[in-house]
Amino acid sequence: MSRQRLLVANWKMNKTVAQARSFAEELGRQTSALPTGVELAVCPPFTALQTLRVILPSRVKLGAQNVHDEPNGAFTGEISAEMLAELGTEYVIVGHSERRQGFGEADDWVARKVRAVLAHGMKPIVCVGEDLEQRNNQATLSVVQSQTSAALAGLEETQLANCAVAYEPIWAIGSGQTPSPQDAQTVITAIRETVATLSGKAAQGMPILYGGSVKPDNIAGFVAQPDIDGALVGGASLKVDSFVALAKAMGE
Ligand code: 13P
Repeated sequence: MSRQRLLVANWKMNKTVAQARSFAEELGRQTSALPTGVELAVCPPFTALQTLRVILPSRVKLGAQNVHDEPNGAFTGEISAEMLAELGTEYVIVGHSERRQGFGEADDWVARKVRAVLAHGMKPIVCVGEDLEQRNNQATLSVVQSQTSAALAGLEETQLANCAVAYEPIWAIGSGQTPSPQDAQTVITAIRETVATLSGKAAQGMPILYGGSVKPDNIAGFVAQPDIDGALVGGASLKVDSFVALAKAMGE
């Protein structure tokens, strides 16, 4: 089964509305350079979703960086899945390590968020990954396998068909360091095997991405691996030229 190839920009807490608008306008001028056959998505801060919805080229999908699992209520500062869906959001990053570490998102909360995203017709991108200590203790595979099954266990096959996973080793995020593509392939194979314990069909079809210091000059090595279907990119997604270069390198 051929899987959807996916390049996702995670802007994190970067870009005002004005800056997001100028990115989208410039990207609009370069759409003819974007490869077909690669699904592209940009996840801006919440404040820029509405602007990007209007001016992002239709070729590029809209994503969000987080969501609350509850439908509404007394959750000051939070955003619901319904609010995101209303803005045309198609993807939602769930359980990013910066949220797991900095905002107390444990596995059970991540799992509830996944369900909220799916219930509103959007696609969760579940982030998993080990920290340096876990890596040094040879715990990488057990960490990512338990995070993956905690997020996805109990979902119906039709729900799993709308999920993606991103393997983001915490020590590789923003550091300029990466695992070798072969090492990332090994971990992503283990993630796919975990999904296969839930549904063999879903495991074959699910996009599983690599993230962590992906750049235009190293992305090709990752996506050449048989189980790596794309990338979740922070820093290198902030400039249009770099985003387009990432997309082109994935399309080749
Ligand atoms: P960098 O690409 O800046 O390392 O960030 C990776 C990431 O956390 C994407 O979600």
